[in-house]
Amino acid sequence: MTAITLNAPSAAMPTAATLKDRVAHETILSPRFYTTDFAALDALDVSPVWAEWDGLMREMEADPNRTHFKRRESFAGIVEALPPEVRGDFVDFMVSSMTSEFSGCVLYAEIARRTKNPEIKRLMKLLARDESRHAGFINDSLKDAGIIIELNYLTKVKKNHYFSPKFIFYGTYLSEKIGYARYITICRHLQAHPDRRFHPLFDRFEEWCNDEYRHGEAIALLLRADPKLLSGFNRLWIRFFLISVYATMYCRDHTRPALHRALGLDTRDYDYRVFATTSEISRQVFPFVLDIDAPRFRLAMEAMRQASAALDKARARKGIGGWLARWGATAAAGAAFLRMFMVPTRENPLPEKVRMAQRW
Ligand SMILES: [Fe+2]
Ligand SMILES: [Fe+2]
Repeated sequence: MTAITLNAPSAAMPTAATLKDRVAHETILSPRFYTTDFAALDALDVSPVWAEWDGLMREMEADPNRTHFKRRESFAGIVEALPPEVRGDFVDFMVSSMTSEFSGCVLYAEIARRTKNPEIKRLMKLLARDESRHAGFINDSLKDAGIIIELNYLTKVKKNHYFSPKFIFYGTYLSEKIGYARYITICRHLQAHPDRRFHPLFDRFEEWCNDEYRHGEAIALLLRADPKLLSGFNRLWIRFFLISVYATMYCRDHTRPALHRALGLDTRDYDYRVFATTSEISRQVFPFVLDIDAPRFRLAMEAMRQASAALDKARARKGIGGWLARWGATAAAGAAFLRMFMVPTRENPLPEKVRMAQRW
């Protein structure tokens, strides 16, 4: 059995080969699978944040979204009926969201299996439970559109990247919180513009993003439990992760203009609203925020997008011309990244209480 098949191929649907390429293609901007130093995780101590930690774990153990991702109706025919360019972008959005959800699930389940730290095991099992539901739900929606992706296949085609625990924390914290900010921004927008809701998947976004919000809260507590992770040289790593996560979203979102047009969103405006929300939330844990409104920052972000688009084009070219174009685009992306890195950040005194009420 091939790993990705289309049951009902039509001229405007992405081909199985395109999707396979989307899923398997490794770029600096793609969701990836990670592995870590499991022994180092065992040394973590949540006692400095115990009251907030235990309260959150109990909340997650109560499983407020237990029934939310149960399949109640089929979405068959909905994707197929979309205008072709919206359909292509929406399927791409679903495939990349599913890959992120599933890669989160694989990582969390692996940590849960291998760690001896009871509190880390407690958390990771809950995270893996939720992410597997999220990935499964998108997978079912894709199946309804005739696109069958064998999730386990993804773990075989995607390489595992080694990351130390602190990098896993910075990366997962940001991906959970930016995931929340993305879903809630679309959710609130569609509540104000119900005529733009072209797929019932969007109806699930509110509870869905509550899961992501709680996931981010848990990682925030882990980070705050060890102040070393948020000071000294690690500040540079945090800055690196913030810029990487924002730039990844900005470049990827700009490859799906039809999706945002169909939702009635301007891609740039939507992205900067999501960054503003993520930055606001990240005040619970990071000692500074990026100055995302600085003109220099925005210009460099736009240069990064152009470099990323040029890289995509160069990848399709063969021979020395393609190699030179790839090299040039990579250098331009590096320069744009550096320019964003040089924009001064704004200091943020950390609040005593880590958990932040959801108000978006
Ligand atoms: Fe998720
Ligand atoms: Fe999550």
